[in-house]
Amino acid sequence: CIMGKLSSAYRQLTEGVSQLPEPFDSQYHCGALLGSGGFGSVFSGQRLCDGLQVAIKQISRDRVQQWARLPGEVGPVPMEIALLQRLVEVGGHASVVRMLDWFEVEGRGFLLVLERPPHGQDLFDFITERGALPERLALRFFRQIVEGLRFLHAHGVVHRDIKDENIVVDTRTLDVKIIDFGSGAPLKETPYSEFEGTRVYSPPEWIVSQSYEAVPLTVWSLGVLLFDMVCGDIPFERDQDIVGAAPVFTRRVSKECQSLIRWCLSYRPEERPTLEEILSHPWMEGGEAEEEEHSSLPNQSL
Ligand SMILES: Nc1ncnc2c1ncn2[C@@H]1O[C@H](COP(=O)(O)OP(=O)(O)OP(=O)(O)O)[C@@H](O)[C@H]1O
Ligand SMILES: [Mg+2]
Repeated sequence: CIMGKLSSAYRQLTEGVSQLPEPFDSQYHCGALLGSGGFGSVFSGQRLCDGLQVAIKQISRDRVQQWARLPGEVGPVPMEIALLQRLVEVGGHASVVRMLDWFEVEGRGFLLVLERPPHGQDLFDFITERGALPERLALRFFRQIVEGLRFLHAHGVVHRDIKDENIVVDTRTLDVKIIDFGSGAPLKETPYSEFEGTRVYSPPEWIVSQSYEAVPLTVWSLGVLLFDMVCGDIPFERDQDIVGAAPVFTRRVSKECQSLIRWCLSYRPEERPTLEEILSHPWMEGGEAEEEEHSSLPNQSL
């Protein structure tokens, strides 16, 4: 869509020329609210030139905690835009949401135009509707998410808020995409001392010492997410449960799957697997995950 490509030039050209229509309003229709959270509101929308379904995330200036510089931009932009832009420039990934465009609009803050899967539903709602997922489906989702995260890390981005609400499922194809880079940061080797992700997905080292490294943090949250997928709810609510690092399986889950979850939820960050080690775990490699008839019956003891 040529309109999209021209928007940045248009933005510069129309700076300070108030009688022209906003380039955003001339290119997109903004529809119903999809969700709202800490940093802003997300609407469903449509690109006018071709009818493409998009999501429009509105971020108020005063809610932005981290700013970044983008080449060619006069002022700083929210870190979320800078991270998504970096991922677009390296070609994107099927399991990571693509930012199609962004705008800064007087009085409305920043508007991010994101791809929206045609039959998209976030994984939180998907699990709420269907209950615990069969291991075969959890494996499909989990593999795509881990592949998406490898792509992010390979290109210097850490997400820091992996959880069911931040995964969108296309309910027709059963493909997933990682969304919401609002807590993300440039990847570094050294420890981080600030965290704006979700506490119940955060690891013991954050609870105990307010410090963590990117990969072990990500892998812990993957352990919480995988447990959530196969049990229908997250393993820990209170800080003392997180620090206890001993998930109690509330449903019948295969031994292999339990072993992968427990490995990701190792108390000591250095004992957790890397993303590559997750991908070569027997549960992942099996392709066809062990799936027993009673695997999704509620409250069956082990
Ligand atoms: N690209 C998208 N496609 C479909 N649904 C989306 C998309 N982006 C967001 N949503 C929906 O909107 C919800 C909120 O979006 P998002 O997670 O980006 O914002 P947030 O949680 O408010 O962000 P933050 O964590 O930055 O405060 C998501 O959980 C999802 O249901
Ligand atoms: Mg979110």
